[in-house]
Amino acid sequence: MKRSIFTHVLGLAALALVLLALPARAWAHGPVSGGASRTDINDLFNVLFWISVPVFLLVEGLILYAIIRYRRRRHDDMPEQIEGHRPLEITWTVLSLLIIAVIFILTARFMTTRYQVEADNGDVTPDLTVHVTGYMFNWDYEYFLGAGEETGVITTRKLTIPANRNVLLEITSTDVQHSFWVPDLAGKVDAIPGYTNTMWLNVPKTGLYTGNCAEYCGTLHYDMLIDVEVLEPAAFDAWLAQQMASLGRFVPIGTDLTSPLPAGDEERGEQLFGELGCHSCHGEQPGVGPSLSNMARDARAAEGYTPESYLRESILVPCAVQAEGYNCQIMPADYGEKLDAQGLADIIAYLLSH
Ligand code: CUA
Repeated sequence: MKRSIFTHVLGLAALALVLLALPARAWAHGPVSGGASRTDINDLFNVLFWISVPVFLLVEGLILYAIIRYRRRRHDDMPEQIEGHRPLEITWTVLSLLIIAVIFILTARFMTTRYQVEADNGDVTPDLTVHVTGYMFNWDYEYFLGAGEETGVITTRKLTIPANRNVLLEITSTDVQHSFWVPDLAGKVDAIPGYTNTMWLNVPKTGLYTGNCAEYCGTLHYDMLIDVEVLEPAAFDAWLAQQMASLGRFVPIGTDLTSPLPAGDEERGEQLFGELGCHSCHGEQPGVGPSLSNMARDARAAEGYTPESYLRESILVPCAVQAEGYNCQIMPADYGEKLDAQGLADIIAYLLSH
């Protein structure tokens, strides 16, 4: 008997914990502070939340009631056996259907009137358009002025945008399905190969907003992080101008495997390695790609290559030589577009420091 009271107390304590944790947990992923459609998302979230509260309480209450009311009191006790109850069954089927219908209508109305149309019917003009491309396991951001004037600026991993401006994100993927999710800015938007989804942002507060890929896409899904830095408009303009100015001096190396490279700088190479997100696949331990020390070892051991020429070819034309045990297709083949001769030399110097 003592034991059974103890079990009940334990059960009630657990339930109380769940009830206490529920709002915190729900709100942690609920209200959105920075997106253009944030009020609609929050309204919808609140309605759905308050619909689910009575359902939760009713279901948990009935479970608790059944546990206590129909518990075994004596060792040979057998509770009353009840089979079927048509009126009750019809009631809960119809009630559930009604609740789901209401949720469906609210959600569908929100999706068609706000989330999609706003982006497509042109009643808001973007001050900045960014092409967001997901791939295993990183994001590229390509910046366009207004609705389409090219800037040539591409950043990897970190997206920089101005505050209080309409920013249109056009989101796609080059390999498998990913999902662009920054909880404090907007709901999830899937990145699907061959298809472009849109997201509008108009963020009132500057700062760093973080998120991650929200669709399981492979071993390093967890490391497909998103940083969105929101700057004052003037600071953003200065940042973009500076990026564009440095582009003027930028000559991508492409797939050039032969012309001589300048001397590389290990430290800048390490920084570039981080900015380009290389470390997601090439870390201390072998993962999706060979580890840092294995790459350095392979480069030194490669027959018919100098260590430099081996790494250069592996970076610019990943599938020229297939590293054993790894799928070269996963390595993006466009690093030649993101690196100039100096950048490539820096990264090679960094890799050979291992
Ligand atoms: Cu990309 Cu998960």
